[in-house]
Amino acid sequence: MKIKNICCIGAGYVGGPTMAVIAQKCPAIKVTVVDINEQRIAAWNDEDLSKLPVYEPGLDEIVAQARGKNLFFSTQVDEAIAAADMIFISVNTPTKTYGKGKGMAADLKYIELCARQIARVATSDKIVVEKSTLPVRTASAIKSILDNTGNGSSVKFQILSNPEFLAEGTAVSDLLNPDRVLIGGDNTTDAGKEAIEALVSVYGQWVPQERILTTNVWSSELSKLTANAFLAQRVSSINAMSELCEKTEADVNEVARAIGMDSRIGAKFLKASVGFGGSCFQKDILNLVYIAKTYGLNEVADYWEQVILMNDHQKRRFAHNIISTLFNTVSGKKIAFLGWAFKKDTNDTRESAAIYVADELLNEQAQIAVYDPKVQTQQMYTDLDYLNTRPSAANQAGLTVHQNPYEACKDAHAIAILTEWDEFKTYDWQKIYDQMQKPAFIFDGRGILNLEELEKIGFVCYQIGSSA
Ligand code: NAD
Ligand code: UGA
Repeated sequence: MKIKNICCIGAGYVGGPTMAVIAQKCPAIKVTVVDINEQRIAAWNDEDLSKLPVYEPGLDEIVAQARGKNLFFSTQVDEAIAAADMIFISVNTPTKTYGKGKGMAADLKYIELCARQIARVATSDKIVVEKSTLPVRTASAIKSILDNTGNGSSVKFQILSNPEFLAEGTAVSDLLNPDRVLIGGDNTTDAGKEAIEALVSVYGQWVPQERILTTNVWSSELSKLTANAFLAQRVSSINAMSELCEKTEADVNEVARAIGMDSRIGAKFLKASVGFGGSCFQKDILNLVYIAKTYGLNEVADYWEQVILMNDHQKRRFAHNIISTLFNTVSGKKIAFLGWAFKKDTNDTRESAAIYVADELLNEQAQIAVYDPKVQTQQMYTDLDYLNTRPSAANQAGLTVHQNPYEACKDAHAIAILTEWDEFKTYDWQKIYDQMQKPAFIFDGRGILNLEELEKIGFVCYQIGSSA
């Protein structure tokens, strides 16, 4: 079966970039990305490519090439579903905030709504692809909804799992050159095999065959949660060692290099930090913990939960270190934050460590001044308000946002590096020092600055995982 028409429900960080790359690489396929969020769709259609709702290096060029030719962004969800022979579900699957599993389980209401909408609208056979990250065995729920609602047995559905492994900030290169593409399907029936082959041939247009992996649906669903759990575990492991390094005059960067050269361990994902953020690591591990508990696997659940507990500790101890170093009080003191995004090269702030560090410091009545090259002012206030720690007005009063890093740092008692943006390394640190209160403290939560040079200027420096 040759795919001619793809619909993707959800025009977010995954749906937008993934579909843009599919459209660019498969000019014979018409790709329509739909969303109920009108503002988001309007931004995807904006003539001014700097206004795309997702910032990713290289994405604007790809959108410019494909948009209007075979890539379309629309709010006409029913129409796009009806026309498609393959439908990707790429909607959000946040942690539940209510009811059973609150704070742990993935909230699948948006997924179910999509399944019901597809069942209602479809009048021809469809391949439905789970692109969102889902608990293992979700495909059976989707199949049950598709088969038992809507237009009855005349329409046949095949469900595939095709989790996305892109990381934000490198989404385009991850999509163009993935380590692997994972496709889970029903390989026990001809129709199932045909569906798997159809999706394999879409990716086969640019991904080498040996990197396209096919498995059963459950392995595919669970592999996504497992991959994120392993990645986050590495960060928590090196962060745990960073605290021990600070007590023992070991240096976490040296330790990371030493262990990373062991090919069994590998060098990637060993950068100690103020804590991992992003929309997925925490949510997916909490979900994994919840699933394990549901099956009564309490030791499995506890094992993975520790990754989150360590991460919470890392964020908190960074904030408390600032407070204790500043003579046990930050009340009324200006603390400059360089960076608010959860990592460099993205405007995404979901679960960013900066939010939690700011929250701790605001509790101590600090005056926070933030500069981030990509995050919008309103987003920072929304992030803080979401925590519900204090009234919105208090967040507005306690945090100011600057468009210029030198302004943010002027008259500050301390600077905290919360995101590893490259530009921070190139600042005129002498100029920043001259305009600060003394002693001038720097807390490098990302290990990106050259401490020796900064100390020569006069800064008092702290870096995660270093006792210097
Ligand atoms: P997102 O919040 O950026 O985008 C989801 C979009 O779906 C939103 O624009 C929302 O309006 C839309 N939506 C929700 N319900 C809808 C409906 N019924 N009809 C039409 N549109 C609807 O989310 P995201 O970051 O793109 O993540 C999507 C999924 O991909 C999640 O399951 C996530 O875990 C997974 N994932 C994310 C990343 C990442 O880097 N962000 C990477 C891999 C996997
Ligand atoms: C992560 C995974 O890397 C992707 O494979 C996955 O598809 C995605 O989650 C998802 O499912 O959403 P992402 O969260 O975009 O991607 O970014 P990462 O590069 O993994 O970074 C996550 C967090 O860990 C960031 O806050 C980053 O600063 C931190 N990190 C990462 C470290 O502190 N140290 C490291 O060595 C690596």
